[in-house]
Amino acid sequence: MDISPATAANHHADHPGFAGATGLFFGLVMTVMGRAKARLAVDLAAVSDADQVIDIGCGPGTAARAAARRGARVTGVDPAPVMLRLARHLTRDPRITWAEGTAEHIPAQDGSATVVWSMASIHHWRDVAAGVGEVHRVLLSGGRFLAIERRVPRGATGLATHGWTEQQAESFAAYCRAGGFDDIRTESHGTGRGAVWVVSAVRP
Ligand SMILES: C[S@@+](CC[C@H](N)C(=O)[O-])C[C@H]1O[C@@H](n2cnc3c(N)ncnc32)[C@H](O)[C@@H]1O
Repeated sequence: MDISPATAANHHADHPGFAGATGLFFGLVMTVMGRAKARLAVDLAAVSDADQVIDIGCGPGTAARAAARRGARVTGVDPAPVMLRLARHLTRDPRITWAEGTAEHIPAQDGSATVVWSMASIHHWRDVAAGVGEVHRVLLSGGRFLAIERRVPRGATGLATHGWTEQQAESFAAYCRAGGFDDIRTESHGTGRGAVWVVSAVRP
């Protein structure tokens, strides 16, 4: 598996995590910036009231709330207490529960989800293979997995690197292949600054 920073799917795994006033500030920014990705995720996964969704790296919970508005039961998982506090503060929907955890240790039972997604989070995961293994574990057979990251150009610097180049998206797709998923697709959605990579996969 390719682990060079230029092509690794988790090129910001050394991020110290979101906390304190700075974490709260970024959480508020994410509530605004995450809306388009949340709409895309519920549409691509065709979320309905039959679904149990797990949102890994849910941040302030924008996508979790979008899924609950479609009638799904949702668990939002994030390692940062400041994000979970903000998510709880912004949420009235009883169909959503929030849990502290990581992609590498998802606090959910085997085969308990029909949909798992992760948005703008995988580039921070410490261990991509372990995270993909956990997604496989918690999904039911036939369950859908979506990985969404902002599309960034090669050679970007600073904040502009927080997303995936095409190579980084393909690197993540390779982890899904190695992790036993089927129907793996890597697609670009949207244009300009709003463009994202979507890697989708199905648990056999
Ligand atoms: C840029 S924010 C995106 C939040 C939200 N998904 C959105 O799109 O608005 C990235 C989130 O991933 C979380 N995160 C970082 N490392 C993680 C890991 N190993 N497993 C799960 N979530 C992680 C962070 O705490 C943060 O809330």
